Amino acid sequence: MQTTSKSPILTARNIVKQFGSAPVLQNASLDIYPGRAIAIMGPSGSGKSTLLHILSGILQPDSGEVLFSGRAIQALKEAERTALRRSSFGFVFQSGQLLPELPALENVALPLILGGAKVDAAKQQAAGYFSPLGLAGLENRRPGEMSGGQAQRVAIARALVTRPAVLFADEPTGALDAHTSHEVMTLLCEASRHTGAALVVVTHDPEVAHSCDSTVHVREGQLTAPIAKGETW
Ligand SMILES: Nc1ncnc2c1ncn2[C@@H]1O[C@H](COP(=O)(O)OP(=O)(O)O)[C@@H](O)[C@H]1O
Ligand SMILES: [Mg+2]
Repeated sequence: MQTTSKSPILTARNIVKQFGSAPVLQNASLDIYPGRAIAIMGPSGSGKSTLLHILSGILQPDSGEVLFSGRAIQALKEAERTALRRSSFGFVFQSGQLLPELPALENVALPLILGGAKVDAAKQQAAGYFSPLGLAGLENRRPGEMSGGQAQRVAIARALVTRPAVLFADEPTGALDAHTSHEVMTLLCEASRHTGAALVVVTHDPEVAHSCDSTVHVREGQLTAPIAKGETW
């Protein structure tokens, strides 16, 4: 059941966004809680990725606000928003996000190195994520030498290595078969529970949403009330 005793880590209030004259989001509101996984569902083109980009400060809404730990992120300067994204948010996409020329270990260490860590220290920290994610022994493989599921687990490790407060995943299993998709979702949810990070999963796949603690649907630019796992929907 959804616990609401904790304060939300991220809140979207009355988000409006249109591209040209086409309205995409019209008054979308949402609360996201630490250590819980929420699925954002909706058909292709319904505005899921747009919402995720607004929640993570990549895109500015036309109106409405996003609060991270109670602070309005739209009010920050662009450089401050970028710093917030680097320090507090992790991202997993459908596929193709790893650098093909780098071994898995260096791909995972990269966000730490970009954040100013020494290469050896970053690699050491990154190495700690391989065994828990079932990747032991694959440290020196390049993305092209791994299965889709393995590459996606490396991408999860890379998203987790900076210890984000919120982990955003946009169709993270979109390129995987059903079995591997289930494995990847289980890992994402476990990682969220274990680290206390909120997990926000955008998906059009009911099976993927089912792994999450709650689900909201994008409907005509608004979000339906969250439905907790186990409730009929
Ligand atoms: N940068 C953009 N410029 C113009 N239109 C866009 C842009 N990004 C998304 N859209 C449009 O907004 C709508 C929602 O897109 P998106 O959020 O990507 O949907 P979803 O992720 O649910 O498939 C679509 O009609 C899409 O074409
Ligand atoms: Mg999308």
